[in-house]
Amino acid sequence: MSEDERTFVMVKPDGVQRGLIGEIVSRFEERGLKLVGGKFMQIDDDLAHEHYGEHEDKPFFDDLVEFITSGPVFAMVWEGADATRQVRSMVGETDPAESAPGTIRGDFGLDLGRNVIHASDHEDEGANEREIDLFFDEEELLDYERIDAAWLY
Ligand code: PPS
Repeated sequence: MSEDERTFVMVKPDGVQRGLIGEIVSRFEERGLKLVGGKFMQIDDDLAHEHYGEHEDKPFFDDLVEFITSGPVFAMVWEGADATRQVRSMVGETDPAESAPGTIRGDFGLDLGRNVIHASDHEDEGANEREIDLFFDEEELLDYERIDAAWLY
C-alpha cells in the first residue's frame, strides 16, 4: 500500500450552495489526508459528458448532466495511504438513505442526485487517474511535505 495514493473528490453544486465545502474539507483534513490540489470551477457540458460518460445510457443521465453543470463545484485531490478506500468509506453510499450517519452523504445527502459529493470509485482501477487528469493539469497538483509528517501521510 502506497502512502501517496491520490484520489479525486468533488463537492457537487448542492454541497457548494449549502455551504458545505469547509465541513467536507475539514473531515478529510482531520482524517489525516493531505490536500494536493483544489479548484473551484464551473463544469461545462463537454466536461460533464466526459466525466459521467459511462452512465450515458442510464435513464438519469440528462438529469445528472443538468445538475452537475447547474452551479460551481469544488474539485479536489487528496493523498494518503489507501486514500481512495478511505475517502469512499467517509463519503458513504450513492443513495443517502443507505449511508450510515457519520458519513458525508449519511449526514447531508438528500437523494440519489443531490448527494453532495462525488468520489472516485475504488472498484474501478483507472477511475482516479482518469478523473484527476480530466480536472487537473500536472502542475496544479502540489508535492510538499507536511510538517507533522511523522503523524500523518
Ligand atoms: S450505477 O447505475 O450504479 O452505475 O450508478 P451510480 O454509481 O449509482 O450513480 C452514478 C452517478 O449518478 C448519480 N445518480 C443520479 N443522479 C440523478 N438522478 C438519479 N436518479 C441518479 N441516480 C444516480 C449518482 O449520484 C452518481 O453520481 P457520482 O457523482 O458518481 O456519485
